[in-house]
Amino acid sequence: MQTTMPTADLPGDFWAGWIAVLTVGSLIGLGWLVYSIYFAANGSGKAEDGHEGPVWDGNLREGAQPPPMWWFWLLFASLAISVLYLMLYPGLGSHAGALQWSQGGRLSDSMAEFEAKFGGLRQLVAEGSLETLRADPELIRSARSIFHRHCAACHGDEGQGQAQRFPNLTDAEWQWGGSAAAIEQSIRQGRTAVMVGWLPVLGDAGVKQVTDYVRQLQEGSAAGHPGQVRYGQFCAACHAPDGAGNPILGAPSLIDQVTLYGDSIDAIEYSIAIGRTGLMPAFGERLDNTQIRLLVAYLTRAGEVKRES
Ligand code: HEC
Ligand code: HEC
Repeated sequence: MQTTMPTADLPGDFWAGWIAVLTVGSLIGLGWLVYSIYFAANGSGKAEDGHEGPVWDGNLREGAQPPPMWWFWLLFASLAISVLYLMLYPGLGSHAGALQWSQGGRLSDSMAEFEAKFGGLRQLVAEGSLETLRADPELIRSARSIFHRHCAACHGDEGQGQAQRFPNLTDAEWQWGGSAAAIEQSIRQGRTAVMVGWLPVLGDAGVKQVTDYVRQLQEGSAAGHPGQVRYGQFCAACHAPDGAGNPILGAPSLIDQVTLYGDSIDAIEYSIAIGRTGLMPAFGERLDNTQIRLLVAYLTRAGEVKRES
């Protein structure tokens, strides 16, 4: 234990030497000063000579008598405690002290304590199945607080989405895929959705026609709609011919009841005419593996809850 004690928090040799010399020097100086006040000064005979100043209590001549004796014992005691302290604890340059105590030692002790307490937990999170993690209320609580800290500003407190800009993460509808791997990738690498605006290509009337077609798709009554041709030509490559979307491109389904940007005609028309470029920032550098795994467990749980109901 003593041989591995870190000494990085102690000063280097050169300064250590100076600190030791100065400390010992000032302790000796202080000791000498106290001694001279109480014992050596009497030897000068000043108190006995014809002192002219006021005389108190019959024999106390001002300026000539040492202070009361209990002061001496107080000073003596503090000096003794200082010397004892410097023998036991680090303080005298690089002398580690008889007790071998150090802040570095304390730190490594508390790190070891931390590892003992949470190391197992980290391992459990890394190796346990998502089901195991989800079943652990303690872990889900940790996941929740990570979510609150890093994600809620955009996705809402409960991940319910916000302002038709930030997707709901609690429904079973995943733009980029709802598998654990896809969700993990969304978190680690972020997502950049690109849908250009189609107004220059389709023109005003074309946008309105396709918007209406998309609306009919949603309602399941698009058969024979004149917009189908344009849709097949310009949209089906990403959103699939039936409008089911393509998670690899982040192209959302147009036929489910979930919309990212709102299901009003205006919102749909805006998406088609002007385009949408949703950006999910990457968190791979900001969160560690344990945190990301907990978030994946938390978010897949949310999807499951919805799917089960
Ligand atoms: C290059 C692939 C691509 C093409 C082509 C494309 N889209 Fe998109 N579309 C996307 C992506 C990606 C998003 C999601 C944008 C986002 O998340 O910000 C999207 C979003 C949308 C939305 C918003 C959905 C919602 O839930 O709010 C609508 C509506 C839409 N597209 C319709 C169309 C139509 C109509 C066409 C053809 C004229 C078309 N898209 C062509 C990739 C494409
Ligand atoms: C700055 C705002 C912002 C923050 C912070 C943010 N996100 Fe997102 N996130 C978005 C946006 C915007 C999208 C949608 C991107 C798109 O249009 O495709 C998204 C998409 C996602 C998706 C994909 C959803 C799907 O349907 O496939 C997941 C998963 C996700 N975020 C998880 C998280 C998690 C977990 C955090 C916290 C670590 C987080 N996000 C923090 C803005 C944010």
